Amino acid sequence: MDTALTRLAGVRHPVVQTGMGWVAGPRLVSAAANAGALGILASATMTPDRLREAIREVRSRTDAPFGVNLRADAGDAADRVEIMVAEGVRVASFALAPSRELIARLREAGVVVIPSVGARRHAEKVAAWGADAVIVQGGEGGGHTGEVATSVLLPQVVDAVDIPVVAAGGFFDGRGLVAALAYGAAGVAMGTRFLLTSDSTVPDAVKARYLAATVRDITVTRAVDGLPHRMLRTDLVETLERSGRIGLLARALRKAAGFRRLSGLTWPQLVRDGIALKHGKELSWSQVLLAANTPMLLKSAMVDGRTDLGVMASGQVAGVIDDLPSCAELVERIVKEAEEVLEGLTGPRDGRR
Ligand SMILES: Cc1cc2nc3c(=O)[nH]c(=O)nc-3n(C[C@H](O)[C@H](O)[C@H](O)COP(=O)(O)O)c2cc1C
Repeated sequence: MDTALTRLAGVRHPVVQTGMGWVAGPRLVSAAANAGALGILASATMTPDRLREAIREVRSRTDAPFGVNLRADAGDAADRVEIMVAEGVRVASFALAPSRELIARLREAGVVVIPSVGARRHAEKVAAWGADAVIVQGGEGGGHTGEVATSVLLPQVVDAVDIPVVAAGGFFDGRGLVAALAYGAAGVAMGTRFLLTSDSTVPDAVKARYLAATVRDITVTRAVDGLPHRMLRTDLVETLERSGRIGLLARALRKAAGFRRLSGLTWPQLVRDGIALKHGKELSWSQVLLAANTPMLLKSAMVDGRTDLGVMASGQVAGVIDDLPSCAELVERIVKEAEEVLEGLTGPRDGRR
């Protein structure tokens, strides 16, 4: 399937494996790229040196183009952009709207800029600033997410901007791909579905929790970092939601102490990150502390396999996914199903439709 996305990113299929902290590492990204999708490396949880190494590792495993996801609000975003430019990365993906200057620098260096957004006005803003395309994530999507469902947000954004729009939030199969194309999207971007592949390095015990989840086991909570965050409902989430202000603060402090040791952050660094996060938002100090530690909470699950301690960010689609194909099997299956669905829709009418 040839779309604006395949042409922009130079990939075979209009399918994106999104950047997911601690999940989208070199193994998953290169497997997705070799399968003909656009694989995106998650870099917010890497040091700049590790990012350079990870880019080289992906390159050693595939000749196909791939992308890197970064936090636009990271203090060192400009340095990370220079690493991407120097290493010849094809696509830059952003968790939040990047600045006009970052977009300009990337485009001048020939890097395709595809920010992720969760609202029409953000799509309009990055389009006006020169982004090449936009990934729009509906509320059913995993991780930090908005309130508007993909089926409402996607046509709204397609109508509002004249750059290619890639649909995210709730996609897992070929029917979804055709539906997204019907709405006017140039492809689909999937997080949870790629997390649940045999190529993802997420520990088996954690994958088993996702596979066992029903759609009702996936919730949106602000209890972890004060922002709407879609994840598996676990004892940790319920405890955080039940905790009063004092309990939450005590817990946050205990966690911060533990995570500070793990992450190597100093207390002043933690506090600085916290103040930056609190800026302009109505967050309590305990939420700020937990927010600063959210990457470590995600790591506990995604790397260390601690289903009891960690945050398992997840889209609602985990409730309908029950297998762990390889990326190659997954992408082939989606594209084949999409072609069959299209044929079924456009074939001769037999009176039933
Ligand atoms: C475990 C997990 C971690 C995520 N981490 C990030 C991240 O670091 N940066 C980002 O832009 N989006 C992140 N997301 C959001 C995804 O990139 C993607 O937009 C979302 O998963 C799409 O919805 P889906 O899960 O229904 O496919 C994450 C999602 C999950 C499930």
